[in-house]
Amino acid sequence: MIFAANLKCNHTRASFKIYADVLNKTMGVKCDDIIVFPPSIAFLESQTNFIQGAQNFYPCINGAFTGELGKEHLDEFGIKCVLIGHSERRILGDETLIKAKFDFAKEHNYKIVFCIGEDLKTKNSGKTLEFLKSQLDIIDLNYKNLIIAYEPIYSIGTGVSADIKDISSVLEYLTTLSQAPLLYGGSVNENNIKEILSIENCGGVLVGSAALKVENFIKLIKG
Ligand code: PGA
Repeated sequence: MIFAANLKCNHTRASFKIYADVLNKTMGVKCDDIIVFPPSIAFLESQTNFIQGAQNFYPCINGAFTGELGKEHLDEFGIKCVLIGHSERRILGDETLIKAKFDFAKEHNYKIVFCIGEDLKTKNSGKTLEFLKSQLDIIDLNYKNLIIAYEPIYSIGTGVSADIKDISSVLEYLTTLSQAPLLYGGSVNENNIKEILSIENCGGVLVGSAALKVENFIKLIKG
């Protein structure tokens, strides 16, 4: 199972160092199935027993892109994993960049956690699968380092995860499109993780709020 933590705009350099120390000690050895996306200002240069991923980057090596991070900056921290298509970034204007980001990350062999998910209006109109397919149409679904995270927008940060039956039918549909591991994200917590991980075709979780405290994230991993 893959356990990914998206820390979003939380944690400082100092607090993430403590987070990583605790996680490193708990893991003991390098584990490629644990991914943490800290804020980029907090990236660690030292080796970690989990994969450090970038919440955001610009599809360039370097250049005149004020405020952005290029590959050169990720390289300095050995970052080889990126999050693309998170709904919070789509809202902030990433939509037009998603394909370019994916193609760049693929070209440079990054592990890509690619997020898709519908809003409540789309869900209620019965167009979920069609919508998700349109979000996936722009990327190479056979890319070997791809992980797809299904994160229905209406369940993110609300404390209420999507219905197990809905998650299950979406994941089943996604297996017809790609062989990539499939994660579920959206209010995953201590109380619902077991049921979510027992869904057929669920290869792990992408967790926000419930992973902000390292002790909680560890509890989710240990089950
Ligand atoms: P949440 O966030 O667990 O707080 O709902 C998940 C995410 O945005 O990836």
